[in-house]
Amino acid sequence: MYLKKLYIETYGCQMNVADSEVVSAILQKENYIFTDKPEDADLILINTCSIRDNAEIRVKGRLENLRVHKKNNKNLKIGVLGCMAERIKDKILEDEPAVDMVVGPDAYRDLPKLLEVVSGGTKGVNTLLSLEETYADITPVRLDENNVSAFVSIMRGCNNLCSYCVVPYTRGRERSRDPETIIQEVEDLIQKGYKEVTLLGQNVNSYHWKDDNTDFPDLLERVSLLSTSIRVRYSTSHPKDLSDKLVKIMSKHKNICKSVHLPIQSGSNIVLEKMKRRYTRESYLQKISAIRKAMPDVSISTDIITGFCGETEEDHRNTLSLMQEVGYDFSYMFKYSERPGTFASKNFEDDVPEEIKTRRLNEIIELQNRLSLESKQKDIGEVYEVLIEGISKKSSSELFGRTSQNKVVVFPKMHFQTGDYAFVKITDCTSATLKGIAV
Ligand code: 5AD
Ligand code: SF4
Repeated sequence: MYLKKLYIETYGCQMNVADSEVVSAILQKENYIFTDKPEDADLILINTCSIRDNAEIRVKGRLENLRVHKKNNKNLKIGVLGCMAERIKDKILEDEPAVDMVVGPDAYRDLPKLLEVVSGGTKGVNTLLSLEETYADITPVRLDENNVSAFVSIMRGCNNLCSYCVVPYTRGRERSRDPETIIQEVEDLIQKGYKEVTLLGQNVNSYHWKDDNTDFPDLLERVSLLSTSIRVRYSTSHPKDLSDKLVKIMSKHKNICKSVHLPIQSGSNIVLEKMKRRYTRESYLQKISAIRKAMPDVSISTDIITGFCGETEEDHRNTLSLMQEVGYDFSYMFKYSERPGTFASKNFEDDVPEEIKTRRLNEIIELQNRLSLESKQKDIGEVYEVLIEGISKKSSSELFGRTSQNKVVVFPKMHFQTGDYAFVKITDCTSATLKGIAV
């Protein structure tokens, strides 16, 4: 039997990484094997992101590079998956004739059928969004080779409708996955030797399974109780929904990682209101202090958008002062990018000039670098339990791993191996990495 070769490339968020693993499972059943060389592939899939304009530009550039492989392999098919497929399906087919297939995030079960259509020489398209699809019964094929840490998708879609965000349009309405299938998937990972799972959803705090009234803290606790030797993380929380119950469960179980990613987006109440975030600077800060009170060793990270419609210098200074006040350990920082179809694109003008966005972003990055360094300098002299993820990229005699707080630690190998836990005394740091020695 001829085994066809699949090459798959993933852009965007962790959710997309998890989706590519679902897609791989579906295609493995269709006798596809994986290749990391696009020139060898019979099928090239690109799982795409639409969150900002530059994410889409990157994918378009990549498509131009990949289509050259059609010259040497007349049977090669190319498919675009994910958020861009959903958002600009017709445009992709129009602009890029080399694309054979366009498949949205809720239509991956249809891939075998679409491939049949495509093999007959017609274009295969399915971008229907679903109210129910969670791929609950599909065991993802793990594409990451480290075998230490895996993503587990617990819900799909988003109902928040933040005014800047394209996700509700590309991923559809929010729906939760049956907790029994989540537990099964994690048990399976534990058996295979995985040491860390990250429960994924666009807004995990609104996870809810009606049949037995499981909410997110219940689910997190159940997963953490499966084995004390695995770590549990989750992403992402929405500040308006992060509950006291969640904080209590996090602090109760040692193996739930002491790291909270809580996107603030802006430190200005005026901007937050326009973004339809439904919390204020003050209520956000209250949540942060409740989290810190319950878990003094917690690390806190965030997402920030700079240059949103109408953002003034005063709004910007409020973002900087909030960052300082929270003392974020880490941030993802972005310039606002208008997305067609969103509330903001229809109702507000994208009126902060590009050079001002750039300047503000640079100020934000500079401040975060300082905060990141301060956060790591505080760790010097402390001992942290590190889950080892692999060999350091810079030196083969060193390993790297993460603390519960999600900080990367590099230290001499000694007798340790990937997947081990090591207690490491921190001796030095940069703004990005801790350095230490196992004790
Ligand atoms: N422009 C810039 N950044 C955005 N994000 C979401 N939408 C946009 C946009 N239109 C950022 C937010 C979100 C992260 C995943 O991406 O900070 O939390
Ligand atoms: Fe990008 Fe958002 Fe889609 Fe993830 S959900 S791939 S971040 S647009």
